[in-house]
Amino acid sequence: MTTVDLSTNIAGVALKSYLMNASGPKCTTWEELEVVAQSASSAIMTKSCTMEYREGNPEPRYSDLPLGSIQSMGLPNLGYKAYLEMVPRLKALGKPVIVSISGFSIKENIEMVSAFQKSDVDLIEVNFSCPNIPGKAQVAYDFEQVESALAALTVLGDKPIGIKLAPYFDMSHFIAMATILNKFPVKFITCVNSIGNTLIIDPETESPIIKPKGGFGGLCGDYIKPVGLANVRAFRELLDDDVQIIGVGGIKNGVDAFEYLLAGADAVQIATCFEKEGEGCFKRIEDELTAFMVKKGYTQLSDAKNKLKPL
Ligand code: SIN
Repeated sequence: MTTVDLSTNIAGVALKSYLMNASGPKCTTWEELEVVAQSASSAIMTKSCTMEYREGNPEPRYSDLPLGSIQSMGLPNLGYKAYLEMVPRLKALGKPVIVSISGFSIKENIEMVSAFQKSDVDLIEVNFSCPNIPGKAQVAYDFEQVESALAALTVLGDKPIGIKLAPYFDMSHFIAMATILNKFPVKFITCVNSIGNTLIIDPETESPIIKPKGGFGGLCGDYIKPVGLANVRAFRELLDDDVQIIGVGGIKNGVDAFEYLLAGADAVQIATCFEKEGEGCFKRIEDELTAFMVKKGYTQLSDAKNKLKPL
């Protein structure tokens, strides 16, 4: 049988396949992370952590939608020290470990990045784009703050640092952000986070369908795939070649993953589909991607990566 080599790497960290879990659903507790390790996800990515344990936002804070979901989780997590202590056990599960951190200030991010720089994690993803913390703006939309934060965070050690970005919608924003990213040794970006502050109303109850922030939450899933693809594409064209891109947003089958490959993604993350389907999604999507590439006559990711054809 023809086979396709789906192996890739991010910042020199070898990944057995193109797909991994996103920092989002089902990656907060040890038990959940163990399930990710046993799945076909090529890495173990943790939920974004904060300085202290967080319960997160009040329920209901997640709702499935026909084409995805809306959520305002509010960063429920065990606190960064718990993940730091977990690192040796996570590493022993045999896959690259990526920690996601989401401090509420540059100072907090410095403390957490410094701590993980001294650990055995493989990659550090700094989340600049959670839209769900009442009173806290998304750093990714504040270009000056992004620049100050990167100046501080990229000098703390040798472990590769990546940034999880919010979706952008204007060419001027892609250019402004890429110009900043190109000034620093950022090794990868992950784009996109959910589209923040969207509102779904139930006309029967005449209320929003989630409680936090008056019903405003991050839109996920199929709804955001065109936005994710455009962000990956724009950044691939604007960033230096040595900045890699992890695509995320609405990937629920092998063809979706293939489209992200054409747009230029070096790897992809699965969030909503993992939430809805469970860990079997990684193997299913991997098999579907393989089958689609076989049909096209492709044998490795580089046959199609960043090869979107102009019309
Ligand atoms: C959340 O926990 O509210 C979602 C995380 C994120 O959007 O980064």
